[in-house]
Amino acid sequence: MLLKVAVTNAAFGPGVALAADCGPAVQTERGPFYPKGEIPTARELLKFPLDGPAVQDQVIHVGGLVLSQDCEPVSGARVVIWQADSAGLYLHPDAIEGAQPNARFLYYAQTMTDRFGAYRFTTLLPSPYKYAGLSRARHLHFEVWSPLQGTSTTEMYFAGKEEDQRRSRDRVWLSRDANLRNALISAPVDDAVRATGHPAFPLDEFRAYRFDIRFPNTESNRRP
Ligand SMILES: [Fe+2]
Repeated sequence: MLLKVAVTNAAFGPGVALAADCGPAVQTERGPFYPKGEIPTARELLKFPLDGPAVQDQVIHVGGLVLSQDCEPVSGARVVIWQADSAGLYLHPDAIEGAQPNARFLYYAQTMTDRFGAYRFTTLLPSPYKYAGLSRARHLHFEVWSPLQGTSTTEMYFAGKEEDQRRSRDRVWLSRDANLRNALISAPVDDAVRATGHPAFPLDEFRAYRFDIRFPNTESNRRP
């Protein structure tokens, strides 16, 4: 059953009321590229200016609510994002040997949810990539943690025909629970909504994706 949660959401703008569907808590593993070492605190994974070699990168906003297992927004939760860049590369010792990282990109970062339980990042659209014989569709990795709720590790995928086709060949995606995995797919916030000047979404050239992350209901999940 989906519960409607109406909150004042600051994911994309200050003090804006949005309703959120409380979907299932779909858990994934961290995978091979969870950041090693210190994770910088930042909401911008981009190092401006973006001109020059990085100009082909597509900048996106992603944000949403962190929800408890009871679908209540969780303030003060730590949110970690890690992802591939526009060339399908992770910043990690096990990533492609000799590949040149994008010096204008952080690759991973952490932030805290605000008093409304909202987070947001500005980042790059990740490229699909191949690793260990697997073809991965575009995705972002997330891990959230709070002292009371524990940990939730999950992934966000991107809506669209091309990505549907990539997912149909992505064995990691296909290994996810078929009844739950579609909750991991996010479509861009409708341009028409943004064109109305709704203050929830920035009126710029960047695409905005909404992705709420829910904690699972397991005691064993609680780890620091
Ligand atoms: Fe990945």
